[in-house]
Amino acid sequence: MGLLDGKVAVITGAGNGIGRAYAHAFAKEGAKVVVNDLGGTRDGQGGDDAAAQKVVDEIKAGGGEAVANFDSVATMDGGKRIVQTAVDTFGHIDILVNNAGILRDRTLAKMTEEEWDAVVAVHLKGTFSCTQAAFVAMRDRGEGGRIINTSSLSGLIGNFGQANYGAAKAGVAGFTRVVAFEGQRHNIYCNAIAPVAFTRMTEDLPMMAGDDSASQQLGPEWIAPTAVFLASELAGDMSGKIFGVAGGKIFEYRIMETAGVVKDEPWTPQQIAAELPQIMAL
Ligand code: NAI
Repeated sequence: MGLLDGKVAVITGAGNGIGRAYAHAFAKEGAKVVVNDLGGTRDGQGGDDAAAQKVVDEIKAGGGEAVANFDSVATMDGGKRIVQTAVDTFGHIDILVNNAGILRDRTLAKMTEEEWDAVVAVHLKGTFSCTQAAFVAMRDRGEGGRIINTSSLSGLIGNFGQANYGAAKAGVAGFTRVVAFEGQRHNIYCNAIAPVAFTRMTEDLPMMAGDDSASQQLGPEWIAPTAVFLASELAGDMSGKIFGVAGGKIFEYRIMETAGVVKDEPWTPQQIAAELPQIMAL
């Protein structure tokens, strides 16, 4: 008995890295998997069917069920076709994992409009395009569903040189919380993972490069169990949560509101300065 027996899962960007690990883990737990991947370079150039097809072949060789899709998540039509592949091949969709991603790092002063647009299109619009198509299909079928988005510490905490990526990933976090609200009455649950993993996306970052153990201790296979958990009944009706996963460490990211200070007339800027410690106290 697998945790995802009979479930149909769409995983975007599953031709490499974390998405590939998800696809294998989901298939191992009995899910039928749509392996989506455009097959481009790390910065989103070009395309190659080989990436997604290879993962499908690997899953099938292991006795699992999978089908490839090569559309880009970054257009509304692409999102629809990706979800339609699940419906056409396996009859419906139970699970969507929005994982596809690219990087175009540049400091704010030097970032081009193209670098901004490309990153926001894949991460933020891509999450919207696939989620909308999946949400409608899940709602109309009436059997609920589980959506897992991909955020990043770059958006939740901040990271130098990633204004485009951080903004998109913070957008994904906000989107996750909104979809959680809207999904409630349809039993559609939406959570997010902010991973840290050694992949082609991160292999040359200072925190990974030069650390020979990073490829083992921070491999994508460390992230996959959290995605399986969130895709399964084990997660119950949990929704709107964001889990950080880095190697063997799993934690929750939370937005906090301090108790604050209340006055019955408009504050002066000087009063705000004077009472800042109380305003910011937990
Ligand atoms: P990766 O580069 O190994 O894999 C990303 C995959 O997405 C690639 O196979 C690529 O072809 C695919 N892709 C890119 N644009 C696409 C599009 N428009 N349509 C369909 N597929 C597309 O990267 P990795 O590390 O596996 O990243 C997976 C996700 O995790 C991304 O969303 C990334 O931003 C996020 N993430 C990764 C972290 C890490 O430490 N590796 C840290 C924080 C977030």
